[in-house]
Order: sequence, then structure tokens, then C-alpha cells
Amino acid sequence: MISNGISDFDSPIMNNSSFSEKIVKWYHAHKRNLPWRETTEPYRIWLSEVILQQTRVGQGLPYYLKFIEQFPDVKALARATERDILRLWQGLGYYTRARNLHRCAKTVMKLHAGKFPGSAAGLHKLPGIGTYTAAAIASIAFGEPVAVVDGNVYRVLARIFGIEKDITTREGKEYFLGKAQALISKADPAAFNQAMMEFGATHCLPQNPKCESCIFKRACIAFARDWQGHLPVKTKKPTVRKRYFYYFVIVENSRLLMRKRTGKDIWQGLYDFYLVETKQHQSPEILFRGDDVLGKLSGKIRFNGISGPYKHVLTHQNLFTRFIPVEIKSTKADLSVFKSEKLKFYSSKEIDKLPKPVLVSRYLKEGAFL
Ligand code: ADE
Repeated sequence: MISNGISDFDSPIMNNSSFSEKIVKWYHAHKRNLPWRETTEPYRIWLSEVILQQTRVGQGLPYYLKFIEQFPDVKALARATERDILRLWQGLGYYTRARNLHRCAKTVMKLHAGKFPGSAAGLHKLPGIGTYTAAAIASIAFGEPVAVVDGNVYRVLARIFGIEKDITTREGKEYFLGKAQALISKADPAAFNQAMMEFGATHCLPQNPKCESCIFKRACIAFARDWQGHLPVKTKKPTVRKRYFYYFVIVENSRLLMRKRTGKDIWQGLYDFYLVETKQHQSPEILFRGDDVLGKLSGKIRFNGISGPYKHVLTHQNLFTRFIPVEIKSTKADLSVFKSEKLKFYSSKEIDKLPKPVLVSRYLKEGAFL
């Protein structure tokens, strides 16, 4: 697809090179000054790109600065503990990315003597580095002319060139990648790729694009047809599952019972409380009747109300979470049932250092436990 004939992508109104010259010129005049734009060090480019896949520039910047301060190079990141990396990543979501950062840093140290491979193809083989990240690093750090396509790029291309292909399909994705690849500036692929993303992020906005002051106003098909809301076309919406979480916050001697999450579910490696999940809203009394740990302790347990639901929206799931503080009137022997569940008591000082879902952190702050 990438090299399937540039003529295929020639625009009737604007040729490829005038498009790329224009957008690169715009970039040099309007780009935001950001720390990862002052370097070509692949480690820093990689880190910034992984963070920016997760969030916008404004929110990502403090994370980037914290990571660089604590882990100034790939060696330092490889040596870190997963727990420390997750703690620093806390709040960005999609924690697999953070675990992959660690895996990738370790692989770069072990198999590449601490040096990132110098091409998109080589980078793509590393853990957690997909097409987008490989192209971003290769173009920005090494000047390789490989186009990146993210949500911003889809929007810019779809609107200016009036492309109605569906970006949720494989065919649509390949078409846009081919289009971007046909347009990329061979002279300055780093500036071109960043220009496309920057233009989408600050000018050709999803809502209220700044069409009146746009350099492509005369050529833009979406502007001419009033299609800004129609493009890019996305038909498939993610299916969203509802989940109901009941966290029992078991307190003893100012210490809280917590557990490291394992398994394939969300938040692997993060710490939360004893959890009962249900298919719909339940009263806590019913939750106590089971033959699980809480059931075994019923009678020796007193719960102090229940928090309102905290709604947490993820790409494929909405979580409705309630917290139930629990006091235990029991002996040490009773408490040992928690051991089998891998639950442990932690002091507030220890908890502060643990990586936790944002929801849990919020509750802890609001409940003044910490
Ligand atoms: N979004 C992701 N990476 C970016 C970059 N390098 N410049 C602008 N926006 C981005």
C-alpha cells in the first residue's frame, strides 16, 4: 500500500509536494515548544510518543518530565521496578503501555546494548512498539521517511482531501497510511509527521475547527462541502460493558488491606481492595452472604455505610464502583483468611508509594485515609 503509486493519491486541487511544503511551513511558524522537540534522542522521542498515545500534550507533559527526571536514560528505566514505573504512570490509564515501556527498555539493554535500533523495521520488533510508534521514532529521531497516522492525521487528511473511507476498517486504515506516505516530505519527515499531528491537535480540531484562518481553506473539501462534522468517517463504535465493583475497605489499626491485581483483567500490577464484582447493583448485605472471605467473617464484621458510585469510563467498559469501609471485630486467626486471598495490610505511607487505579486514589483522598 505504501508504495502503490503516488499518482493514485494526487489531489486535483493541490499536488503532494505543495501540501507537504505548506504544512511543514505552518509547523515551523506555529509549533508548540515542547521538551521532546529539542532532542533527537530516540529514548526521549519514544517516551514522549508512548505518553502522547495515551493523552494530550498538556496532560502528558508533566508525566514526561517526571519520567525523564527519574529515568534519564533507557538504562535507568530498565533497572526500575515495575511498581515504580506503574506508580509514575498512574492516572494515564491503559497500564499495559507502562508495563511494555519497562519490557522494551529491558530488551533494548539486553539485545541492543542500550541503543535503540535505527530503523522503523528494527524498532517494530521491540515489545510494545507498533506501527505508529516505530514510524514516529524512526522519522523524528533518525529522519526515515515513514509516515505516522494517528487520530489527528486521519482527521486532517479526511477533511482536506475529502476522504470518506471508514477509519475503523482495515481497508480504510491502509488507505490513509498510503495517503500519508505519498505526502510525506522526503526532505524533512520529522517535521512533516509532527506537523500533521500538530495541525490536527491545534488547528483542524474535532469540534470547531479553525477553518476561517486555515492555510488550506481554498483547497479543503470538507470546508467547501461543510463536511467537517462528517469526516473522518467512523462506523464501528466500541461496545461498552457495564461492570459493578464493590470494594470492601478493611481497616485495622490505621492500616488498610490491599491486594496487587494479577491476571488478564484491567489494572494488572496495580493495588486495590478486596473486590466483589456483580452484574448489577447490589446491596452490601447481600454481598456478605456469600461463602467467600466476607461470608466467613459475617457476624464479626461491621460496615460503615457505602459510598456513592464512582463512575469510571474506559474504552470498552464503564465501571460503577462503590466503597464500603469495614471494621472487623475479630481475632488474628480470623484475619488470616485474607492471606489466602493475597491481601496484605499496608500503612498509609506504604500505600502512598503503591501504584493504584485513579478511582482508588480518589477514594483514599476523599475518605481521608491518607
Ligand atoms: N501527538 C503524538 N505525538 C505527537 C507529536 N510528536 N507532535 C504532536 N502531537 C503528537
